Amino acid sequence: MAEIIEFETDRLRLRQWLAKDREPFAALNADPRVMEFFPATLDRATSDAMAEYCERLIAERGWGFWAAEVKGSGHFIGFIGLHIPSSELPFSPCVEIGWRLAFQHWGKGFASEAASGALQVGFELLNLPEIVSFTVVRNLRSRAVMERLGMREAPSTFEHPHIPVDSPLRLHCLYRLSRDHWQHMPHNTSLHLTCGASTPLAG
Ligand SMILES: CC(C)(COP(=O)(O)OP(=O)(O)OC[C@H]1O[C@@H](n2cnc3c(N)ncnc32)[C@H](O)[C@@H]1OP(=O)(O)O)[C@@H](O)C(=O)NCCC(=O)NCCS
Repeated sequence: MAEIIEFETDRLRLRQWLAKDREPFAALNADPRVMEFFPATLDRATSDAMAEYCERLIAERGWGFWAAEVKGSGHFIGFIGLHIPSSELPFSPCVEIGWRLAFQHWGKGFASEAASGALQVGFELLNLPEIVSFTVVRNLRSRAVMERLGMREAPSTFEHPHIPVDSPLRLHCLYRLSRDHWQHMPHNTSLHLTCGASTPLAG
């Protein structure tokens, strides 16, 4: 078991998963708008299993796909964070950054805000040399987040090995961001990070 890393951005708290997240997580996983670029919506049992998996990885590693809640209201809005993909991909080994938010929380800048915090954790605290992100080529909203974060699109697309060969979701694009490039980008975020003891991580 590792010391659990949690952090706050201006508007959000990124934290370990709680039992109360299961219901709103199942609701967003059952929403076809949220799951447009995944093979299927998830039923309650599969959604709960995914939440438990995210929770277990954070407990084991200290980091992962964090549950995101709005500060003040405490509303759970989805997940954002860092993950080692379980599939062997053409660019493995790697650490990816990913996100999935409830539809009513799109268009507010929440994914980009939390993801910049997750990049800071990945590069400054975990010392990762590179963070990647990938999605279905047609997933323009997710690609826009990658671009806002300063990630660079790799020259070639790839076929996701876990998606059936005849599926329109199989073709993926890849974005990369090295620590070196990230360190030279302007940052104006200042995270409040907790990892065991409460520690500020300057932006
Ligand atoms: C991908 C996903 C997280 C993107 O969410 P998003 O809300 O579009 O992304 P951001 O949080 O970066 O928000 C940006 C939008 O908020 C707007 N915005 C509003 N207030 C803002 C603020 N205070 N700060 C920044 N942006 C703000 C921006 O103008 C932008 O609007 P636009 O979409 O009209 O250009 C979301 O669409 C999603 O969960 N999709 C389903 C899951 C998925 O496909 N995941 C990726 C699989 S690889």
